[in-house]
Amino acid sequence: MSRASLRRSFETTRGKPLVNEKSDRYTPRQMSDLTDLGKRIADLNGEMARGLAEASDVQTLERFRVEYLGRKGRIAQLFRVLAEVAPDDKREAGRLLNELKDGATSAFEERAARLTSSELQERLLRESVDVTLPGVCRPFGHLHPLTQVQREIESIFMRMGFDVATGPEIETEYYNFEALNIPADHPARADWDTFYISDTTLLRPHTSPVQIHVMESTPPPVRIICPGRCYRRDAQDATHSPVFHQIELLWVEEGLSLANLKYVLELFTREFFGEGYLMRFSGDFFPFTEPSVQVHIKAPGAAGWMEIMGAGMVDPAVLTAVGYDPECVSGFAFGLGIERMAMLKYGIDDIRAFLTNDLRFIRQF
Ligand code: PHE
Repeated sequence: MSRASLRRSFETTRGKPLVNEKSDRYTPRQMSDLTDLGKRIADLNGEMARGLAEASDVQTLERFRVEYLGRKGRIAQLFRVLAEVAPDDKREAGRLLNELKDGATSAFEERAARLTSSELQERLLRESVDVTLPGVCRPFGHLHPLTQVQREIESIFMRMGFDVATGPEIETEYYNFEALNIPADHPARADWDTFYISDTTLLRPHTSPVQIHVMESTPPPVRIICPGRCYRRDAQDATHSPVFHQIELLWVEEGLSLANLKYVLELFTREFFGEGYLMRFSGDFFPFTEPSVQVHIKAPGAAGWMEIMGAGMVDPAVLTAVGYDPECVSGFAFGLGIERMAMLKYGIDDIRAFLTNDLRFIRQF
């Protein structure tokens, strides 16, 4: 080709009217755009159909829906092609794209509805309650037999007008001994010497120190019962336990005598054990009572007497120690073992049963 013709052809090409040039160049691309779009739509539809079938729960389906139908999703992206499509084809391209979008939207909705209802179905099935099944029985506990007996005794005396008072389990020697008329060199100390915590404090061997605490802080009349745990230097056997429970009773007022004690005890015996019991006093010794007695009862028809407590008239020395005037007031006291009362009432022959936590025993009460 000659230089002139090259130039002409260059010029000719360059000199072509713009419209012609454009239509020349775009005709083949327009064709491929629509075909191409159709193919891409078919591909997307195929992919979506597979994904829809595979999405087995609502969450997966939602992620999938956003990928295709979201604002920046694959379908929205495909819509951009519209800008490049020839004006004549825009209508058809738009129709195809809208058809894709509408079809996809309803396919997702349908699938979502089906998944939701089957998930709901599954949940209903999973969470359904079979009201015909036997229920789970939660066992009820109950109070320990000792607590029951303690409360029963408390309630009997509360009905007679006594208040319940308690005191510390670790006592000083003063409350445990001196104030109860047991000086340091008194042989009776040996009976109540228990477990010392320090040189002057010990685990109380009886509830009598509570009497002192109450009388020190209350002017007469005093009418109390004092339940509580006690400790003794006793080896464990069927009738002894180094840990046990007592209930102390104290009534101090003008003009009380042993006859009042007897009457109170008769009332108590009738309430706690039942009708027809006989009661007798026999002489005993306690440093804090004068006179001191041992109380026995005999069940109707029974041969033997059972000792139920130690008791007596409060020793004037005890009243003086707490600042009461023994010329004006007198009183009586007793101390009973709760275990012993429970054993007598229910025919339990081994004190250890209360502490071994054997449910076969405990459940009988
Ligand atoms: N404290 C005595 C004891 O433990 C019992 C008792 C209390 C005796 C009150 C008389 C008066 O053995």
